[in-house]
This record gives sequence, C-alpha cells and structure tokens, in this order.
Amino acid sequence: MLSRKAEDYLEAILNIAEEKGYARIKDIALALGVTPSSVVEMVRRLNDMGFVEYRKYDGVTLTPKGEKIGKAVWGRHTMIRAFLEIIKVPEEIANKDACIIEHELDPKTIEQVKNLVNFVQSAPDYPQWLEHFEIFCKTGIHPCDEGKRKEREHRLSS
Ligand code: FE2
Repeated sequence: MLSRKAEDYLEAILNIAEEKGYARIKDIALALGVTPSSVVEMVRRLNDMGFVEYRKYDGVTLTPKGEKIGKAVWGRHTMIRAFLEIIKVPEEIANKDACIIEHELDPKTIEQVKNLVNFVQSAPDYPQWLEHFEIFCKTGIHPCDEGKRKEREHRLSS
C-alpha cells in the first residue's frame, strides 16, 4: 500500500494535470504546502515506482497506474467532503478534513458514507430530518420534542 503522503501527491497531481495537462513542481509544492525540493524527491520516487512520469522540463504526468490511485483518492475526498457538508461542517474545514480522513477508512465505511450522501442528494425535497438537525445544532433541542420546545419558549418569553 502507498503511504498517505504518496496518495496525496497522486491526488494533487491529478487535479493540477486535469486543469493544465501536466503538473509543474512548483504547482505541486503550492498545492501541498511543501518545498519544491521535497516535491522533486517524492516525484522521483513515484517515477521509479511507475506511478508518474517526470521529465525535468515538461513536468509531471500520471501513468495509468498512478491515475487509478489518484482518482480513487479524489473520489473518496469528494464523498467525505459532501458528507461533512451534510452535517454542516463549513466548506473550508470539510475540504481540509476530507484530505485527512480519505486515507484511512475501511471500504465498507466509504460505501456507507457514499450511500448516505447519495440518499440525501437524491431526496426529492430537502430532508426534514436535516432541517431538524440544523435546528438541533442551534438550539440543542430536537424539534419533535414538544415538551422541551415549549419549556424553552416559555423561558424565552418570561
Ligand atoms: Fe484529498
């Protein structure tokens, strides 16, 4: 299995190359927040393992083997990010944390995250339980809990 770090590189190269056709060392360094010299070191290693092709003046491209992993990691990333956004994690944090979680989960967990995301996204109307969840996040009270809701309203009005 590839290291987390190697997976992050393949994911970043995939995203940059999708936009530009290839990834330059400085683009990768910028995307991952690392120095160009550590990018060169890792890219050389990935080149030797057959995941990327690195030509000094043409930049880095993924081999089919590297692309397969890059796409799998990116697929997990977008799925986890969507899940975190469903549970109301702010976009920027969801994106950052997706990049951490994406490497470690069991395929079964990923499958269930995917099922939940698809379930919510394919709902014909905005799901009521999600509306309730939003209210719960703000008030700490389940809107279906009549007793507690009334108690709270009474407290606020008196
Ligand atoms: Fe990621």
